[in-house]
Amino acid sequence: MGSELIYRGHDSQLATDSYSPKPIKPWFAVTQPIRYMLREQRLVFVLVGIAIATLFFTVIPTSYPASYGGARGHVAISDSLSYYPVETYQRAYNPRVGFGAVNSGGKIPLGLKRKGLRIVVTGGAGFVGSHLVDRLIARGDSVIVVDNFFTGRKENVMHHFGNPNFELIRHDVVEPLLLEVDQIYHLACPASPVHYKFNPVKTIKTNVVGTLNMLGLAKRVGARFLLTSTSEVYGDPLQHPQKETYWGNVNPIGVRSCYDEGKRTAETLTMDYHRGAGVEVRIARIFNTYGPRMCIDDGRVVSNFVAQALRKEPLTVYGDGKQTRSFQFVSDLVRLTETI
Ligand SMILES: NC(=O)c1ccc[n+]([C@@H]2O[C@H](COP(=O)([O-])OP(=O)(O)OC[C@H]3O[C@@H](n4cnc5c(N)ncnc54)[C@H](O)[C@@H]3O)[C@@H](O)[C@H]2O)c1
Repeated sequence: MGSELIYRGHDSQLATDSYSPKPIKPWFAVTQPIRYMLREQRLVFVLVGIAIATLFFTVIPTSYPASYGGARGHVAISDSLSYYPVETYQRAYNPRVGFGAVNSGGKIPLGLKRKGLRIVVTGGAGFVGSHLVDRLIARGDSVIVVDNFFTGRKENVMHHFGNPNFELIRHDVVEPLLLEVDQIYHLACPASPVHYKFNPVKTIKTNVVGTLNMLGLAKRVGARFLLTSTSEVYGDPLQHPQKETYWGNVNPIGVRSCYDEGKRTAETLTMDYHRGAGVEVRIARIFNTYGPRMCIDDGRVVSNFVAQALRKEPLTVYGDGKQTRSFQFVSDLVRLTETI
Protein backbone atom coordinates (compact mmCIF):
# COMPACT_ATOMS: atom_id res chain seq x y z
CA MET A 1 0.00 0.00 0.00
CA GLY A 2 2.80 2.35 1.00
CA SER A 3 4.47 2.08 -2.41
CA GLU A 4 1.36 3.64 -4.05
CA LEU A 5 2.18 6.92 -2.32
CA ILE A 6 5.74 7.13 -3.60
CA TYR A 7 6.53 10.19 -5.77
CA ARG A 8 6.57 9.22 -9.45
CA GLY A 9 7.48 12.59 -10.97
CA HIS A 10 10.68 11.10 -12.45
CA ASP A 11 8.60 8.80 -14.71
CA SER A 12 6.56 11.66 -16.11
CA GLN A 13 9.75 13.62 -16.66
CA LEU A 14 11.03 10.73 -18.73
CA ALA A 15 7.87 10.70 -20.78
CA THR A 16 8.25 14.42 -21.52
CA ASP A 17 11.84 13.97 -22.60
CA SER A 18 10.89 11.31 -25.10
CA TYR A 19 8.48 13.71 -26.94
CA SER A 20 9.25 14.29 -30.57
CA PRO A 21 7.24 16.80 -32.69
CA LYS A 22 5.00 15.55 -35.51
CA PRO A 23 6.62 15.69 -38.91
CA ILE A 24 5.43 18.73 -40.94
CA LYS A 25 2.99 17.69 -43.66
CA PRO A 26 4.19 18.25 -47.21
CA TRP A 27 2.56 21.31 -48.90
CA PHE A 28 0.61 19.20 -51.41
CA ALA A 29 -1.39 17.69 -48.49
CA VAL A 30 -3.29 21.02 -48.32
CA THR A 31 -4.38 20.73 -51.90
CA GLN A 32 -5.84 17.27 -51.36
CA PRO A 33 -9.31 18.47 -50.22
CA ILE A 34 -9.41 20.93 -53.14
CA ARG A 35 -8.61 18.19 -55.61
CA TYR A 36 -11.26 16.03 -53.97
CA MET A 37 -13.86 18.80 -54.44
CA LEU A 38 -12.98 19.26 -58.12
CA ARG A 39 -13.06 15.57 -58.87
CA GLU A 40 -16.28 14.15 -60.40
CA GLN A 41 -18.06 17.57 -60.30
CA ARG A 42 -18.46 17.49 -56.50
CA LEU A 43 -18.07 21.29 -56.48
CA VAL A 44 -21.26 21.56 -58.54
CA PHE A 45 -23.13 19.58 -55.89
CA VAL A 46 -21.79 21.84 -53.12
CA LEU A 47 -22.91 24.97 -55.02
CA VAL A 48 -26.36 23.50 -55.69
CA GLY A 49 -26.68 22.73 -51.95
CA ILE A 50 -25.80 26.31 -51.00
CA ALA A 51 -28.33 27.63 -53.55
CA ILE A 52 -31.12 25.42 -52.14
CA ALA A 53 -30.37 26.52 -48.56
CA THR A 54 -30.36 30.20 -49.59
CA LEU A 55 -33.67 29.75 -51.38
CA PHE A 56 -35.17 28.01 -48.36
CA PHE A 57 -34.30 30.80 -45.89
CA THR A 58 -35.04 33.80 -48.11
CA VAL A 59 -37.63 33.14 -50.79
CA ILE A 60 -39.95 30.76 -48.90
CA PRO A 61 -42.32 32.78 -46.68
CA THR A 62 -41.28 33.02 -43.04
CA SER A 63 -43.46 31.55 -40.32
CA TYR A 64 -45.65 33.93 -38.37
CA PRO A 65 -46.95 33.08 -34.94
CA ALA A 66 -50.24 31.39 -35.75
CA SER A 67 -53.15 33.76 -35.99
CA TYR A 68 -54.97 33.90 -32.72
CA GLY A 69 -58.23 31.98 -32.60
CA GLY A 70 -61.19 33.93 -33.95
CA ALA A 71 -59.13 36.96 -34.92
CA ARG A 72 -60.87 39.29 -37.32
CA GLY A 73 -59.33 41.97 -39.44
CA HIS A 74 -62.19 44.40 -39.09
CA VAL A 75 -64.42 45.91 -36.43
CA ALA A 76 -67.86 47.36 -36.65
CA ILE A 77 -68.42 50.90 -35.47
CA SER A 78 -71.70 52.45 -34.34
CA ASP A 79 -75.08 51.85 -35.93
CA SER A 80 -73.85 52.61 -39.40
CA LEU A 81 -72.13 49.19 -39.42
CA SER A 82 -69.17 50.68 -41.28
CA TYR A 83 -66.18 48.41 -41.25
CA TYR A 84 -62.66 49.67 -40.78
CA PRO A 85 -59.36 47.83 -40.52
CA VAL A 86 -58.74 47.11 -36.86
CA GLU A 87 -55.27 48.63 -37.10
CA THR A 88 -56.92 52.06 -37.29
CA TYR A 89 -57.99 51.75 -33.70
CA GLN A 90 -54.85 50.51 -32.11
CA ARG A 91 -52.45 53.33 -31.33
CA ALA A 92 -49.20 51.59 -30.72
CA TYR A 93 -46.03 53.42 -29.82
CA ASN A 94 -42.70 51.94 -30.64
CA PRO A 95 -39.86 54.41 -29.97
CA ARG A 96 -38.03 53.21 -33.06
CA VAL A 97 -40.92 53.91 -35.42
CA GLY A 98 -43.38 56.15 -33.53
CA PHE A 99 -47.11 55.80 -32.92
CA GLY A 100 -49.38 53.85 -35.20
CA ALA A 101 -46.83 51.53 -36.70
CA VAL A 102 -46.81 47.85 -36.03
CA ASN A 103 -43.44 46.18 -36.09
CA SER A 104 -43.41 43.28 -38.46
CA GLY A 105 -40.19 41.95 -36.93
CA GLY A 106 -39.98 38.76 -34.97
CA LYS A 107 -40.45 36.56 -38.02
CA ILE A 108 -38.69 33.27 -37.71
CA PRO A 109 -37.40 31.30 -40.68
CA LEU A 110 -39.19 28.01 -41.20
CA GLY A 111 -37.50 25.13 -39.51
CA LEU A 112 -35.89 27.21 -36.75
CA LYS A 113 -37.57 26.91 -33.36
CA ARG A 114 -37.93 30.19 -31.46
CA LYS A 115 -36.45 30.23 -27.95
CA GLY A 116 -39.21 30.74 -25.36
CA LEU A 117 -39.09 34.03 -23.46
CA ARG A 118 -39.70 34.62 -19.76
CA ILE A 119 -42.53 37.12 -19.58
CA VAL A 120 -44.35 38.77 -16.70
CA VAL A 121 -47.93 39.91 -17.34
CA THR A 122 -49.25 42.25 -14.65
CA GLY A 123 -53.05 42.16 -14.53
CA GLY A 124 -52.84 38.82 -16.33
CA ALA A 125 -55.90 37.43 -14.55
CA GLY A 126 -58.09 40.18 -16.01
CA PHE A 127 -60.06 40.30 -19.24
CA VAL A 128 -57.37 41.39 -21.75
CA GLY A 129 -54.47 40.01 -19.70
CA SER A 130 -55.81 36.44 -19.61
CA HIS A 131 -56.18 36.37 -23.42
CA LEU A 132 -52.65 37.68 -23.79
CA VAL A 133 -51.40 34.97 -21.42
CA ASP A 134 -53.17 32.30 -23.53
CA ARG A 135 -51.43 33.62 -26.62
CA LEU A 136 -47.95 33.82 -25.03
CA ILE A 137 -48.21 30.32 -23.58
CA ALA A 138 -49.43 28.99 -26.94
CA ARG A 139 -46.38 30.42 -28.70
CA GLY A 140 -44.05 28.69 -26.22
CA ASP A 141 -43.14 31.42 -23.74
CA SER A 142 -42.96 31.07 -19.95
CA VAL A 143 -45.44 33.40 -18.30
CA ILE A 144 -45.63 34.76 -14.76
CA VAL A 145 -48.95 36.44 -13.98
CA VAL A 146 -48.88 39.10 -11.27
CA ASP A 147 -52.33 40.15 -10.12
CA ASN A 148 -54.06 41.34 -6.96
CA PHE A 149 -57.46 40.03 -8.19
CA PHE A 150 -59.19 43.39 -7.76
CA THR A 151 -61.10 42.88 -11.01
CA GLY A 152 -59.32 39.79 -12.30
CA ARG A 153 -60.29 36.19 -11.53
CA LYS A 154 -58.32 32.99 -11.07
CA GLU A 155 -60.89 31.26 -13.31
CA ASN A 156 -59.56 33.29 -16.25
CA VAL A 157 -56.18 31.57 -16.08
CA MET A 158 -56.85 28.34 -14.18
CA HIS A 159 -56.72 26.28 -17.39
CA HIS A 160 -52.93 26.89 -17.25
CA PHE A 161 -52.55 25.53 -13.71
CA GLY A 162 -50.14 22.59 -13.80
CA ASN A 163 -48.40 23.89 -16.92
CA PRO A 164 -44.69 24.23 -16.07
CA ASN A 165 -44.55 27.36 -18.26
CA PHE A 166 -47.13 29.15 -16.13
CA GLU A 167 -46.94 30.78 -12.68
CA LEU A 168 -49.45 32.92 -10.83
CA ILE A 169 -48.45 35.38 -8.10
CA ARG A 170 -50.95 37.28 -5.98
CA HIS A 171 -49.23 40.62 -5.70
CA ASP A 172 -50.13 44.31 -5.80
CA VAL A 173 -47.94 46.19 -8.28
CA VAL A 174 -47.90 49.19 -5.95
CA GLU A 175 -45.37 47.11 -4.00
CA PRO A 176 -41.95 46.42 -5.60
CA LEU A 177 -41.20 42.97 -6.99
CA LEU A 178 -38.04 41.36 -8.33
CA LEU A 179 -38.31 38.75 -11.09
CA GLU A 180 -35.82 37.62 -13.73
CA VAL A 181 -37.68 38.13 -17.00
CA ASP A 182 -37.08 39.12 -20.63
CA GLN A 183 -40.29 41.10 -21.16
CA ILE A 184 -42.90 42.88 -19.05
CA TYR A 185 -46.47 43.40 -20.24
CA HIS A 186 -47.88 45.92 -17.76
CA LEU A 187 -51.68 45.76 -17.79
CA ALA A 188 -52.50 45.96 -14.08
CA CYS A 189 -55.16 48.62 -13.64
CA PRO A 190 -58.93 48.52 -13.46
CA ALA A 191 -60.22 49.55 -16.90
CA SER A 192 -63.93 50.28 -16.59
CA PRO A 193 -65.28 53.49 -14.98
CA VAL A 194 -67.24 51.59 -12.29
CA HIS A 195 -64.07 49.87 -11.16
CA TYR A 196 -61.54 52.70 -11.46
CA LYS A 197 -63.85 55.19 -9.73
CA PHE A 198 -64.44 52.73 -6.85
CA ASN A 199 -61.16 53.79 -5.21
CA PRO A 200 -59.67 56.67 -7.24
CA VAL A 201 -56.59 57.06 -5.03
CA LYS A 202 -55.79 53.38 -5.45
CA THR A 203 -56.31 53.71 -9.22
CA ILE A 204 -53.82 56.55 -9.60
CA LYS A 205 -51.37 54.80 -7.27
CA THR A 206 -51.61 51.69 -9.42
CA ASN A 207 -50.94 53.75 -12.53
CA VAL A 208 -48.10 55.84 -11.12
CA VAL A 209 -46.39 53.77 -8.39
CA GLY A 210 -47.24 50.45 -10.05
CA THR A 211 -45.81 51.61 -13.39
CA LEU A 212 -42.71 53.03 -11.65
CA ASN A 213 -42.12 49.67 -9.97
CA MET A 214 -42.47 47.75 -13.20
CA LEU A 215 -40.23 50.18 -15.11
CA GLY A 216 -37.67 49.90 -12.31
CA LEU A 217 -37.79 46.12 -12.72
CA ALA A 218 -37.40 46.44 -16.50
CA LYS A 219 -34.34 48.65 -16.03
CA ARG A 220 -32.82 46.37 -13.42
CA VAL A 221 -33.13 43.12 -15.36
CA GLY A 222 -32.86 44.64 -18.85
CA ALA A 223 -36.37 43.57 -19.87
CA ARG A 224 -38.50 45.06 -22.64
CA PHE A 225 -41.52 46.91 -21.24
CA LEU A 226 -45.01 47.33 -22.71
CA LEU A 227 -47.59 49.65 -21.16
CA THR A 228 -51.26 49.22 -21.96
CA SER A 229 -52.45 52.79 -22.09
CA THR A 230 -55.85 53.93 -23.25
CA SER A 231 -57.76 56.13 -25.67
CA GLU A 232 -58.80 57.97 -22.48
CA VAL A 233 -55.49 59.84 -22.64
CA TYR A 234 -57.26 61.99 -25.24
CA GLY A 235 -59.85 62.87 -22.55
CA ASP A 236 -62.87 64.59 -24.05
CA PRO A 237 -61.23 64.96 -27.45
CA LEU A 238 -61.72 67.98 -29.66
CA GLN A 239 -60.56 66.03 -32.72
CA HIS A 240 -62.31 63.06 -34.33
CA PRO A 241 -60.77 60.67 -35.05
CA GLN A 242 -57.79 61.47 -32.84
CA LYS A 243 -54.54 61.85 -34.74
CA GLU A 244 -51.33 60.65 -33.13
CA THR A 245 -50.10 64.22 -33.01
CA TYR A 246 -53.13 65.19 -30.90
CA TRP A 247 -52.33 65.64 -27.20
CA GLY A 248 -55.85 65.45 -25.84
CA ASN A 249 -58.26 67.47 -23.76
CA VAL A 250 -58.24 66.05 -20.24
CA ASN A 251 -59.87 67.48 -17.13
CA PRO A 252 -57.17 67.04 -14.45
CA ILE A 253 -59.61 67.39 -11.56
CA GLY A 254 -62.58 65.42 -12.88
CA VAL A 255 -63.85 62.10 -11.52
CA ARG A 256 -62.21 60.20 -14.38
CA SER A 257 -58.82 61.87 -13.97
CA CYS A 258 -57.53 59.14 -11.62
CA TYR A 259 -57.57 56.92 -14.72
CA ASP A 260 -56.96 59.44 -17.55
CA GLU A 261 -54.20 61.39 -15.82
CA GLY A 262 -52.88 58.19 -14.24
CA LYS A 263 -52.38 56.65 -17.68
CA ARG A 264 -50.90 59.90 -19.05
CA THR A 265 -48.36 59.90 -16.20
CA ALA A 266 -47.68 56.21 -16.81
CA GLU A 267 -46.90 57.07 -20.46
CA THR A 268 -44.61 59.91 -19.31
CA LEU A 269 -42.73 57.59 -16.95
CA THR A 270 -42.40 55.00 -19.70
CA MET A 271 -40.85 57.51 -22.10
CA ASP A 272 -38.58 58.96 -19.39
CA TYR A 273 -37.25 55.49 -18.57
CA HIS A 274 -36.70 54.98 -22.28
CA ARG A 275 -34.89 58.28 -22.84
CA GLY A 276 -33.13 58.45 -19.49
CA ALA A 277 -32.31 54.83 -18.72
CA GLY A 278 -32.36 53.23 -22.16
CA VAL A 279 -35.21 50.84 -21.33
CA GLU A 280 -36.77 49.36 -24.46
CA VAL A 281 -40.45 50.32 -24.30
CA ARG A 282 -43.78 50.06 -26.11
CA ILE A 283 -47.01 51.93 -25.41
CA ALA A 284 -50.33 50.60 -26.72
CA ARG A 285 -53.24 53.08 -26.53
CA ILE A 286 -56.15 50.67 -26.43
CA PHE A 287 -59.66 51.59 -27.52
CA ASN A 288 -62.89 49.81 -26.41
CA THR A 289 -62.33 46.08 -26.41
CA TYR A 290 -64.91 43.33 -26.05
CA GLY A 291 -64.93 39.54 -25.95
CA PRO A 292 -65.16 36.50 -23.68
CA ARG A 293 -64.23 37.00 -19.98
CA MET A 294 -65.13 40.70 -19.95
CA CYS A 295 -66.89 41.71 -16.74
CA ILE A 296 -70.64 41.54 -17.23
CA ASP A 297 -71.26 44.36 -14.74
CA ASP A 298 -68.57 46.83 -15.85
CA GLY A 299 -71.18 49.33 -17.06
CA ARG A 300 -69.75 49.59 -20.59
CA VAL A 301 -71.91 49.54 -23.67
CA VAL A 302 -71.07 46.08 -25.06
CA SER A 303 -71.35 44.33 -21.68
CA ASN A 304 -74.59 46.25 -20.98
CA PHE A 305 -76.11 45.15 -24.29
CA VAL A 306 -75.00 41.53 -23.77
CA ALA A 307 -76.30 41.44 -20.18
CA GLN A 308 -79.66 42.91 -21.22
CA ALA A 309 -79.93 40.54 -24.17
CA LEU A 310 -79.20 37.55 -21.92
CA ARG A 311 -81.91 38.75 -19.51
CA LYS A 312 -84.23 39.26 -22.50
CA GLU A 313 -84.62 42.94 -21.58
CA PRO A 314 -84.83 45.81 -24.10
CA LEU A 315 -81.42 47.27 -24.98
CA THR A 316 -80.83 50.72 -23.46
CA VAL A 317 -79.48 53.36 -25.86
CA TYR A 318 -78.34 56.53 -24.12
CA GLY A 319 -78.75 60.05 -25.58
CA ASP A 320 -79.87 60.32 -29.18
CA GLY A 321 -78.08 57.10 -30.09
CA LYS A 322 -75.86 58.87 -32.61
CA GLN A 323 -72.70 58.70 -30.50
CA THR A 324 -69.89 56.58 -31.92
CA ARG A 325 -67.14 54.46 -30.41
CA SER A 326 -64.33 52.35 -31.83
CA PHE A 327 -64.68 48.69 -30.88
CA GLN A 328 -62.29 45.82 -31.34
CA PHE A 329 -62.48 42.13 -30.55
CA VAL A 330 -60.04 41.01 -27.86
CA SER A 331 -58.13 38.59 -30.13
CA ASP A 332 -57.33 41.48 -32.52
CA LEU A 333 -55.93 43.45 -29.60
CA VAL A 334 -53.84 40.52 -28.37
CA ARG A 335 -52.47 39.88 -31.85
CA LEU A 336 -51.37 43.51 -32.14
CA THR A 337 -50.08 43.73 -28.58
CA GLU A 338 -47.71 40.81 -29.08
CA THR A 339 -46.42 42.13 -32.41
CA ILE A 340 -45.51 45.71 -31.45
N1 LIG B 1 -60.70 46.64 -21.98
C1 LIG B 1 -60.62 47.79 -22.60
O1 LIG B 1 -61.48 48.15 -23.41
C2 LIG B 1 -59.44 48.69 -22.38
C3 LIG B 1 -59.42 49.92 -23.01
C4 LIG B 1 -58.32 50.75 -22.80
C5 LIG B 1 -57.28 50.35 -22.01
N2 LIG B 1 -57.33 49.14 -21.40
C6 LIG B 1 -56.20 48.79 -20.52
O2 LIG B 1 -55.88 47.41 -20.64
C7 LIG B 1 -55.51 46.88 -19.39
C8 LIG B 1 -56.34 45.67 -19.07
O3 LIG B 1 -57.70 46.02 -19.10
P1 LIG B 1 -58.85 44.96 -18.85
O4 LIG B 1 -60.03 45.36 -19.66
O5 LIG B 1 -58.32 43.58 -18.99
O6 LIG B 1 -59.19 45.26 -17.34
P2 LIG B 1 -59.45 44.25 -16.13
O7 LIG B 1 -60.00 45.06 -15.03
O8 LIG B 1 -60.23 43.06 -16.60
O9 LIG B 1 -57.98 43.74 -15.79
C9 LIG B 1 -57.10 44.47 -14.98
C10 LIG B 1 -56.34 43.48 -14.14
O10 LIG B 1 -55.39 44.19 -13.32
C11 LIG B 1 -55.49 43.70 -11.99
N3 LIG B 1 -55.08 44.77 -11.09
C12 LIG B 1 -55.68 45.96 -10.87
N4 LIG B 1 -54.98 46.69 -10.00
C13 LIG B 1 -53.89 45.95 -9.66
C14 LIG B 1 -52.78 46.15 -8.79
N5 LIG B 1 -52.66 47.27 -8.07
N6 LIG B 1 -51.85 45.17 -8.68
C15 LIG B 1 -51.96 44.02 -9.38
N7 LIG B 1 -53.00 43.78 -10.22
C16 LIG B 1 -53.95 44.72 -10.35
C17 LIG B 1 -56.95 43.30 -11.83
O11 LIG B 1 -57.17 42.41 -10.76
C18 LIG B 1 -57.23 42.69 -13.19
O12 LIG B 1 -56.88 41.34 -13.22
C19 LIG B 1 -55.64 48.01 -18.38
O13 LIG B 1 -54.38 48.60 -18.17
C20 LIG B 1 -56.55 48.99 -19.07
O14 LIG B 1 -56.33 50.31 -18.65
C21 LIG B 1 -58.37 48.30 -21.56
